[in-house]
Amino acid sequence: MKIVRSPRELKSILKDEKGSIGFVPTMGALHHGHLSLIEASVKNNDINVVSIFVNPTQFLEGEDLERYPSKFEADEKICALAGVDILFYPQANEMYEDDEIKIIAPNIRGFILEGHVRPGHFDGVLTVVMKLLNIISPTRAYFGKKDAQQLALITQMVKNFYMDVEIVPLDTVRESDGLAMSSRNVYLNEKERVEALKISKSLNVATNLVIRKVFEVDAVKREMYEVLKPLDVEYIAIVSRAFVPQKEIEIGNSIILVAAKLGSTRLIDNIWI
Ligand code: PAJ
Repeated sequence: MKIVRSPRELKSILKDEKGSIGFVPTMGALHHGHLSLIEASVKNNDINVVSIFVNPTQFLEGEDLERYPSKFEADEKICALAGVDILFYPQANEMYEDDEIKIIAPNIRGFILEGHVRPGHFDGVLTVVMKLLNIISPTRAYFGKKDAQQLALITQMVKNFYMDVEIVPLDTVRESDGLAMSSRNVYLNEKERVEALKISKSLNVATNLVIRKVFEVDAVKREMYEVLKPLDVEYIAIVSRAFVPQKEIEIGNSIILVAAKLGSTRLIDNIWI
């Protein structure tokens, strides 16, 4: 496995590549969720690139940019063992110049839920993903459904800008007790780790209600708030696959999302109905 730090060098290495290129963008501190994306990429493409870049532009003032977990040596081993060909590990000053053009998230889909709680976050995500996709020109790029709104916006950007890449969404990987894997789970203390289970539990309760044909969004949300007590819930939302809020859950077209804070740690999770 080759480690490449310069965007221009990576572009020139990949320029004459004839086979398919699989790409998995990450911010590192890799876990089994990331690994599932890497494995799918390696299985389906000739050359595979993983990026590790803690993108400063998607963090808001006061968020965890400075303390975001970093485990480069372990990440490098995970990628090499998984069969990755190129690990792209750029520095912020090579990815950005001063006073740049940037991608702005759409007015509605980009400004509800995560976009509302974290204004500007998706502009940073879309801008860096645009850069990464232009540097690598992958055939396929792999994203987790765990970050459902991010996935929806990236899919929309690729469509709106006629970009030549297939966006492949993959299911959320969970710990054995149900907690969605996240690089941020390491911030949780023992008590918060136990309390965090209420998030996946609330999504299971919602799923069971749907199985019992309870489709009314307000009724499902009420039950979920009960399960989540006494967590600091930022939102519970039920939207279509296109991220339009719904009044009735539609099987095959609904996503139920939760964001909650445990101490200073924000966790998000969702389930696709
Ligand atoms: P990061 O949080 O490192 O996540 C990288 C990819 O892994 C994303 O597509 C995310 O949805 C996926 N992922 C995270 N946890 C997962 C889980 N439990 N199961 C399955 N997939 C999971 O998302 C980002 O980085 C950044 O915003 C990025 C796209 C790299 C742009 O900076």
